[in-house]
Amino acid sequence: MSASFTRFDESQVDDWQEIDARFREYREGVVPRVIAHLDRLRGDTHGYPVDRYTHCLQTATRAERAGADEETIVCALLHDIGDDLAPDNHAEIAAAILEPFVDPLNLWMIRHHELFQGYHYRHFYGLDRHVREDYRDHPGYARTVRFCDEWDQTSFDPDYDTLPLSHFLPMLERVLARPPFEGAGLPDIQAD
Ligand SMILES: [Fe+2]
Repeated sequence: MSASFTRFDESQVDDWQEIDARFREYREGVVPRVIAHLDRLRGDTHGYPVDRYTHCLQTATRAERAGADEETIVCALLHDIGDDLAPDNHAEIAAAILEPFVDPLNLWMIRHHELFQGYHYRHFYGLDRHVREDYRDHPGYARTVRFCDEWDQTSFDPDYDTLPLSHFLPMLERVLARPPFEGAGLPDIQAD
């Protein structure tokens, strides 16, 4: 069944009940869609020693082996998922996917990892590699430095014992199945 309206200002509550039910069902299937997108990062290495898919898995593997919690490991797994859709601001894509489900400081970490990672290459472009120091007093600073320095910038090694996606899948499912934080998502339809 489809809604009876052709424009929102003619819609009725039963239209929205149907749409809302379909939306909630569709939302349940987000993990396979995220995986399908991660899968798009396989193949072309863009000149790096490994493709972005392997890089994401390797970053998550290093995070796990360093004792990071599940949410942080999932952040590591998805941190570069936006590389093909938003090559100039890819961190925003991972941040948008994770925002309803993760701690605001982890969200801050994902959103800023591009700039913090720049410590390792910005000087080659004649840019200030220390620009992340502008955020030294931010509560997310230390975790973002650790993420970039220990797990992200080190994860371009084709010989590293990288764990497969199947290892991380249950973690991804658990994190994305969390109830969205207040302010994200929609409440129940009001029938009266
Ligand atoms: Fe990365």
